[in-house]
Amino acid sequence: MAKLTQVYACSNCGAQFPKWQGRCTECGQWGTVAFEAAPRKRISRAQAGSVVTLDTDSRGLGADHRIPSGMLEWDRVLGGGIVPGSLILLGGDPGIGKSTLALQLAAQLSSNQNVLYVSGEESAEQVGLRLKRLQVKQKKLAFLAETDLDVVLATLEETKPQLAVIDSVQTLATDDVPSEAGSVPQVRTATVRLLDVAKANRIALVLVGHVTKEGAMAGPKALEHLVDVVLYLEGDRYHAFRILRGVKNRFGSTNEVGVFDMRNDGLREVANPSEVFLAERQTGPGSAVTSVVEGSRAFLVEIQALVNPTVFGMPRRTTSGLDINRLQLLLAVLQKRAGLKLGTHDVYVNVVGGFRVTEPAADLAAALAIASIVSGQAIPGKLVAIGEVGLGGEVRSVSNLERRLKEAKQLGFTEVVLSNQGKVEAPAGVQVLRVGTVKDAINEVLGRVVERENGS
Ligand SMILES: Nc1ncnc2c1ncn2[C@@H]1O[C@H](COP(=O)(O)OP(=O)(O)OP(=O)(O)O)[C@@H](O)[C@H]1O
Ligand SMILES: [Mg+2]
Repeated sequence: MAKLTQVYACSNCGAQFPKWQGRCTECGQWGTVAFEAAPRKRISRAQAGSVVTLDTDSRGLGADHRIPSGMLEWDRVLGGGIVPGSLILLGGDPGIGKSTLALQLAAQLSSNQNVLYVSGEESAEQVGLRLKRLQVKQKKLAFLAETDLDVVLATLEETKPQLAVIDSVQTLATDDVPSEAGSVPQVRTATVRLLDVAKANRIALVLVGHVTKEGAMAGPKALEHLVDVVLYLEGDRYHAFRILRGVKNRFGSTNEVGVFDMRNDGLREVANPSEVFLAERQTGPGSAVTSVVEGSRAFLVEIQALVNPTVFGMPRRTTSGLDINRLQLLLAVLQKRAGLKLGTHDVYVNVVGGFRVTEPAADLAAALAIASIVSGQAIPGKLVAIGEVGLGGEVRSVSNLERRLKEAKQLGFTEVVLSNQGKVEAPAGVQVLRVGTVKDAINEVLGRVVERENGS
């Protein structure tokens, strides 16, 4: 008799346990852990797997073959293009533009590849209308409206496209799994079976996946380790910028981002993001510019601050595009090390354009923007501030300085404030101000130490 491997699994998050428990300790749901028995297949010795020697010199290994899409930003994130037979998970918030991106990609590639677009969410008519609206040359595309996983698998095996888009993986379901479409067991089954078919037939698959309110892909852990590449389309739905970010990539680095602009006629690639982020810049008190590095590129972004006396109760600290804890830390440093009294003031900090800054290199610019609005003095319009601020009020040097300075020069910036640590070679025409502390930076840039409390 087959030996049973016993395991208890949560139907919500897919976590596995050796014993039954009333509450899943991974996701916190009650009553979701149930027995799952998997009979282990008995295999004779003769059936043991065949071990081969990998030889990178052999001609059989198709080197680093990739399918470039012609969408440079997409190819950049993937490290040059789609690897044949790979599984790509494309996630993002509802309405952010996942279907648009996937359709543009499919249409673009269909000019010289065999592409199939499968939608479980929209009809042929709806997708046809979208295709018409998009600025793509290719106006014909193989399309299948289907939610039955087994039909999709059969179609893939039958038509063997080089690329198939599945929009979305959460809409697919099979009768073999008792739970409803979109549940973790269904999504996981769909992904595993698609993976089998894709690898066997060398079909590259783009699986579109929804992100839940908590920001997790449904069945996230269960899916992320199954697929080769995980991409997220991010952005603020009130702004036109979309950032395509690689979270996992078995065939390349994950630190590249692609920048797109959402327009009526689809997602347009943005070749020079700084120009777009600074397009509507207004120089006045409370505005500072910094340079952030994403992958191999440096962008300039504007950081705005607003400070008002608190009218009632606890002072508010609000950020958009910047980590709130980072702001709290900066405010503590500004108060203690630069004498800015902000304890009874509301502070708002915003990164313009819906861009999300995660680098500490933006600290100095945020601190200067706050000091600038408090003093009522504007920061010179052609100045870029780059540096991490430490708890001692010291300004620290950051990586990739050369790239950041080059970008600043390219956009016509003439002054840069930096840490006095480390060696820097400034490009011609850019004056470099080196500072040791955030207080020095404020002094140098705004002309004097701001000690008075705003509005008093
Ligand atoms: N007719 C239209 N004209 C202009 N822009 C449109 C039109 N229809 C949709 N859009 C834009 O496309 C966005 C939706 O894109 P898309 O359907 O690709 O998103 P999605 O991430 O696939 O959403 P979902 O999670 O609902 O599948 C909308 O937010 C809107 O900005
Ligand atoms: Mg969609």
